[in-house]
Amino acid sequence: MAFNPSTRQAGLIKAAIFVLALVPLARMVYLTLTGQLVEPLEFITRGTGDWTLYFLCFTLAVTPLRRLSKWNWLIKLRRMLGLYMFFYGLLHFMTFLWFDHFFDVQEMWKDVLKRPFITVGFIAFVLLIPLAVTSTNAMVKRLGGKRWQWLHRVIYVIAPLAILHFWWMKAGKHNFTQPIIFGVILGALLLMRVYWARSKAVAAAAAVR
Ligand code: HEM
Repeated sequence: MAFNPSTRQAGLIKAAIFVLALVPLARMVYLTLTGQLVEPLEFITRGTGDWTLYFLCFTLAVTPLRRLSKWNWLIKLRRMLGLYMFFYGLLHFMTFLWFDHFFDVQEMWKDVLKRPFITVGFIAFVLLIPLAVTSTNAMVKRLGGKRWQWLHRVIYVIAPLAILHFWWMKAGKHNFTQPIIFGVILGALLLMRVYWARSKAVAAAAAVR
């Protein structure tokens, strides 16, 4: 089904998603401030971790959805979704630094190095930083399209690290259902992109011959 919103409609959709993406944060703040949570620190750490993962899925779903539906305007949402992934990742990291270590960076480092699931999450988060920093049009221009694309392929490393982080965290309770579900979703999204990129390369090589 073709759905081609005008520039104004696409802008409205984007604005609506921008606001909706803040709802999980608003909910966490509201539930905490109104004292409705039994374990607020755990709830916020886990909630921000969950939303980092969801936005990773949403961001990676843009290209496959766009290709399958031919809704090219979806590309206009990708940067915002990616930045929300970073935003929730940053909140997730800050809650860890705050609630678990009261901003004692040395203690935090010890924990990062001691617990493998945190080491892996930390690496995934650090790898997100260059992607967020280079997300502006000016940075795309400065790096050049090809180099920018290469850099942003680091998402192929971030996604498995995020799943490993989640998997390791759940391993203590032998509860692998959610990591498996998200692993399958992210695996499928990444494989689709690899398949299309390879098909494009093969077609380009055939055109040169
Ligand atoms: C791309 C980066 C990251 C993603 C996608 C991510 C995702 C997640 C997810 C999905 C959870 C489980 C939430 C649940 O139980 O429902 C979680 C928990 C957690 N993550 Fe992360 N995380 C990331 C980075 C980090 C970083 C940088 C740290 C700290 C240095 C960290 C520390 C933790 C901790 C402490 C928990 C809670 C463990 C517990 O309650 O036992 N994560 N994360």
